[in-house]
Amino acid sequence: MAEDLSIVIGSKEEQYLSIIPQIKGLLMGEDDLIANLANVAAALKEQFNWLWVGFYIVKSDELVLGPFQGPVACTRIKKGRGVCGTSWQNATTIIVDDVEKFPGHIACSSSSKSEIVIPIIENNTVVAVLDVDSSDLSSFDEIDQKYLEQIVQFLNF
Ligand code: SME
Repeated sequence: MAEDLSIVIGSKEEQYLSIIPQIKGLLMGEDDLIANLANVAAALKEQFNWLWVGFYIVKSDELVLGPFQGPVACTRIKKGRGVCGTSWQNATTIIVDDVEKFPGHIACSSSSKSEIVIPIIENNTVVAVLDVDSSDLSSFDEIDQKYLEQIVQFLNF
């Protein structure tokens, strides 16, 4: 497997359509979850250059920081807390255009302005979330939701 990603410049949709087959290629033949989470975070960060891309994994009553790319982050989030804990509690994707307007938002980095959190669901249970932060306001929309929800389905927890 070539280790270099091919990074495209184009519309958001074009970027997802380029990176998704490459992510599938990275995951193919590898069953180690941490390795796969790490490569998905790295591939998304490299293509989109977002501030922070990473996973929080459900461990008993908390989310615990998993593989990520970006500035250091808080390690544990309770159910129902912040954007991540709310996405876990509601088992729904949350798009936040302005993190300062989300009650209870947990500010891991003062540079974060907008955020999307995708729950990862196995057997009707949230097992982890994918969290993406941007240093720009209103970075995420239904296109990100559609493709990021597809990407997390490639992962086997
Ligand atoms: N902002 C998140 C916390 C995680 S950091 O953004 C990496 C939240 O409110 O849940």
